[in-house]
Amino acid sequence: MDFKDLIQARRSVRGYAEPVSHEALENILKNAQQAPSWANQQASRCYAVESPEKLEELRKKGLPDFNQPRVENASVIVTTYVKDMAGFHQGVPANEIGNGWGAYDLGLHDAYLILAARDAGYDTLIMGMRDAAVIREILDIPDTEDIMSVIAIGKRGQEPVNNPRKELSEVVKFI
Ligand SMILES: Cc1cc2nc3c(=O)[nH]c(=O)nc-3n(C[C@H](O)[C@H](O)[C@H](O)COP(=O)(O)O)c2cc1C
Repeated sequence: MDFKDLIQARRSVRGYAEPVSHEALENILKNAQQAPSWANQQASRCYAVESPEKLEELRKKGLPDFNQPRVENASVIVTTYVKDMAGFHQGVPANEIGNGWGAYDLGLHDAYLILAARDAGYDTLIMGMRDAAVIREILDIPDTEDIMSVIAIGKRGQEPVNNPRKELSEVVKFI
C-alpha cells in the first residue's frame, strides 16, 4: 500500500473479530525493530500475549472496564522499555529528559508497529489506560523495565470512528 494511504488507513479499532496469526505477528514485530533508537540501544521490549488463558487474565485484571470489550478476540502486545538505557551515557543521563528517551524510542517503535500491522491487514488499539502493577505480575515483567502501553492487535470486527486532527497552524510554527 502507498505510504500516504497506509497512514490514513491506520485507525484505532475498538472491536475485533480474530487475533493476529503468529507468523504475521513475528513479521510485524520485526518491522517495528527497524524504528530508530537512541544510539541504537534498542531499549524497547514487547510481551506478545497469544495464549487465550493469559489474554483473558490480562483483559479482566489488567484493563479498566471500558477497555476490556475493546480487546476481546484480539491478541495483545504489552510494550515496555529498559530503564537507564536510552538517553544515558555510561550510566548517567545525557540530558534533562533522562528516561523520557526510553519512552520516546518506544513511541517510535510502536508507531512502526501499528503501521506495519495495518500494512499486513491487521488493526490495533494502543491503550494507556491499564494497570501496570497487575500486568507486571501477570506477565512477570522485571522492575528494570517501565511498562507503557497495551496494544490490541487483530482482524477488525468493527469500523473505526474518524477522529479529526487539529489545524496544522495550531500545532506547528513555521519559523
Ligand atoms: C498513548 C495512547 C494511549 C491511548 N489510550 C487509549 C485507551 O486507553 N483506550 C482507548 O480506547 N484508546 C486509547 N488510545 C487511542 C486514541 O484515543 C486514538 O489514537 C486517538 O483518538 C486518535 O484516533 P486514531 O488512532 O483512530 O487516529 C490511546 C492512544 C495513545 C497514542
